Amino acid sequence: MSLPKEIKKITTNTLLKMKEHGEKISMLTAYDYSFAKLFDGSGIDAILVGDSASNVMAGHETTLPITLDQMIYHAQCVVRGINRCLVVVDMPFGSYQSNTDNAVASAIRIMKETGAHSIKLEGGEEVVESIKRIVAAGIPVMGHLGLTPQSIYKFGTYTVRAKQEEEAAKLRNDAQLLQQAGCFAIVLEKIPADLAKEVSEGLSIPTIGIGAGKYCDGQILVMHDMLGINNEFKPRFLRQYLTLHEQITTAVQQYVKDVKLKEFPNEEESY
Ligand code: KIV
Repeated sequence: MSLPKEIKKITTNTLLKMKEHGEKISMLTAYDYSFAKLFDGSGIDAILVGDSASNVMAGHETTLPITLDQMIYHAQCVVRGINRCLVVVDMPFGSYQSNTDNAVASAIRIMKETGAHSIKLEGGEEVVESIKRIVAAGIPVMGHLGLTPQSIYKFGTYTVRAKQEEEAAKLRNDAQLLQQAGCFAIVLEKIPADLAKEVSEGLSIPTIGIGAGKYCDGQILVMHDMLGINNEFKPRFLRQYLTLHEQITTAVQQYVKDVKLKEFPNEEESY
């Protein structure tokens, strides 16, 4: 059953209601004004200004190098393009792990300097105290469990997490702790679909899956992957809705040819 269509602005409360009504939550990443405006106008429920900007915008191998200042810049650009959807901003590596004061200060900077509506951070039990303090400061927090890319050097690989019972048990417990700490939603990345189902059913807050199967309360994809801008990354969980890599390459090749052959600009395209 869907919520009434007249919803003007999506809030964290709207996402909660969507879960209660069984309406799935749609979410994409965005990092700039133009795409954020397009996605918002297309009816997306929420946008994540992901620290995947480190990979897809800056060309780094991991999400670790991106700074708080750079995340704030991307979030400011995205917020200018938004009219309706909820904007979540990733707290980058190093902006919350050292202590709870560092975490609250970073979250406050994001909210104050960007106009975004909420923040996301990675981890379970180890970040619970920081989450409680950020929530107490009035800032909505989205959690992130399973494959947490900021810990890639601890994991050593990007393969599916929590396949073994010990890690699955920790994830179940972490999800409950995040809910108790006041998170309004939790991203579940690259975990078995059955585990994601069990976790989602055991929580009153929504889960947003990426590579976590169909039972999550919502789905998120990185925009460059779903639009096919990046044609080197094709994990099993990804559905590509466009093949922009090929289309952009063809368009640019045609433009280069037109310029070289002096076919662009023509009379009508000149003053
Ligand atoms: O940074 C990001 O894009 C993310 C999503 C993969 C959930 O955290």
